Amino acid sequence: MLSEQFLQELKLRNDIEGVISSYTPVKRRGRNLVCLCPFHNEKTPSFTIYPENQSFYCFGCGAGGDVITFVRRAENLEYIEAVKFLADRAGLAMPEDGYDDRTAKLKARVLEINRETARFYFSCLMSPAGRQALEYLRGRGLSDSTIRRFGLGYAPDSWDMTLRHLLSKGFSREELAAACIAVQSSRNKDRYFDQFRGRVMFPIIDIRGNVIAFGGRIMGEGGPKYLNSPDTPVFKKSRNLFALNFAKSTKENRLILAEGYMDVVALHQGGFGNAVATLGTALTGEQARMIAQYADTVVIAYDSDGAGQTATKRAINIFGEIGLKVKVLSMTGAKDPDEYIKKYGAQRFKLLLDGSSGAMDFEIAKLKAKYDLETDEGKVGYLKEFVAFMAGIRNEIERDVYVSRTAEELRVEKSTLLLQISHIIRQRARSAEKKQARDLSTFAVDPKDRLDPERSRNIRAALAEERLIAILFKNPDYREHILAQIAPEEFVTAFNRQVFAFMCGRLKEEKSLDMISLSAAFDEAQMSRISGILAAASGQNFTRAEADDYIKVIKEQAGQKTPRELAEMDEEQLKQYISGLVGKKPKSTL
Ligand code: CTP
Ligand code: MN
Repeated sequence: MLSEQFLQELKLRNDIEGVISSYTPVKRRGRNLVCLCPFHNEKTPSFTIYPENQSFYCFGCGAGGDVITFVRRAENLEYIEAVKFLADRAGLAMPEDGYDDRTAKLKARVLEINRETARFYFSCLMSPAGRQALEYLRGRGLSDSTIRRFGLGYAPDSWDMTLRHLLSKGFSREELAAACIAVQSSRNKDRYFDQFRGRVMFPIIDIRGNVIAFGGRIMGEGGPKYLNSPDTPVFKKSRNLFALNFAKSTKENRLILAEGYMDVVALHQGGFGNAVATLGTALTGEQARMIAQYADTVVIAYDSDGAGQTATKRAINIFGEIGLKVKVLSMTGAKDPDEYIKKYGAQRFKLLLDGSSGAMDFEIAKLKAKYDLETDEGKVGYLKEFVAFMAGIRNEIERDVYVSRTAEELRVEKSTLLLQISHIIRQRARSAEKKQARDLSTFAVDPKDRLDPERSRNIRAALAEERLIAILFKNPDYREHILAQIAPEEFVTAFNRQVFAFMCGRLKEEKSLDMISLSAAFDEAQMSRISGILAAASGQNFTRAEADDYIKVIKEQAGQKTPRELAEMDEEQLKQYISGLVGKKPKSTL
């Protein structure tokens, strides 16, 4: 068995895009990359690389998997040989045994500590000792339900109150130091004290629902304003985003990126549950890819000061590189979203967000700068790009504003531009439909499906199972919600059952769900199918309620009896069975 840590390192050092592009040239298409499939002959690319989960899938031949599966196929290697191949490529030594277990145990302990600490901070906030902190948060306009939802807390103004509480819960001082909840004194190695003292606490929760770190703000002036957990065995600030645990479940295909914890909390309270923030550092490529997994547009809502604007430019570049659509919010009259909402209300912020006229101007200005509008050639080039850009804007009124303006500016007929735009919109809709049809039929119903023979006979259930698998993969924090309702044994088709059971097993052990861990357990053909399942759900968000719908479908189908079973039922059983079916008519969500 290879250690978890080693596999993660291997994955990180062997970006799938980099590996595949050393075999065949790849081209960006939106958030993903495409190329001609190296595994079958084709003239137009249907081989897609998904940077968001480091997988690939070919819509032409159905090959898919993670970076290890790719190398296995491309180099014709066994699993362990492919791992060695990639380790060599990245200059990694193959690991010794026995390493994994210790770190895995420590990680689990640190997560327990964090959870208990968050509970403790919350109870302190609600206790008399936390009155000032509670007043501070309320004074900043936060409602009690917002405070509760984010699990905000108060770290008591004491050297060791948190420490003593956690020791009483059975954690050791060494464990607490590893979690960076306690700090070992540098002068007296036997002395430990609390990392966070007299601060309002923001727990940082990952997409699996684990408390992984804290940010603590002093009340009032002084410094440092925020104290954040340093990196720990369960936390890397460059790989996490504040409030993504909430934002990933909103039905929006755009996320708002703000600068501060307070901005995010205020935005969520104002009805913008799709806001996230980095954790006190500049945006990283990893964070940008995380955002791309849940949205196709990001609205940058950084502070309006100079530092915020510089950071905005940087962020635009990073998002641009990974092909995400970027909008920029330009606020006037307030320094950040928190202040803006407090001053002008959430409704006006919504206008700012939807119109994002500043953002549009920003994009148009960028386009314009590419061409020399004094020449006819430049004009034509610009207008071509302009109409393509406009075709992506859904709001007609908004479109009209910009089209009118540009028509006047360049002295062309507005109606010609509009005609072009509607032409492009129709064309895109057609090709989107075609693509969807193609995606779905890839492995839709194949009576000779050797991998999952039950699939074609139980297509409704199988599709629901596949969706549920994709939902759990993207939202590991739904596990309790999902597992409370359905067990792997209830899955109708054997292959999906096996995948689901494997995922549940990993989650129960507090391990991450990713392609590289799946590829340790599934063979090439199976990985291909799994990639296809994830590819079909790429770029979509799912709520718990949607998971419920799919669970219902699986259960209905699982409950259906064969004619033979029906014939063997007695009167009473039959009556019960039939009354069970009534009112359970399959919904048409699939
Ligand atoms: N930050 C930090 N350390 C500091 C200051 C800031 O880690 N000393 C990080 C925090 O993540 C903070 C973000 O940078 O949320 C933005 O900073 P700032 O705008 O100063 O904080 P706000 O969250 O807006 O807090 P407030 O509204 O209370 O000023
Ligand atoms: Mn701020």
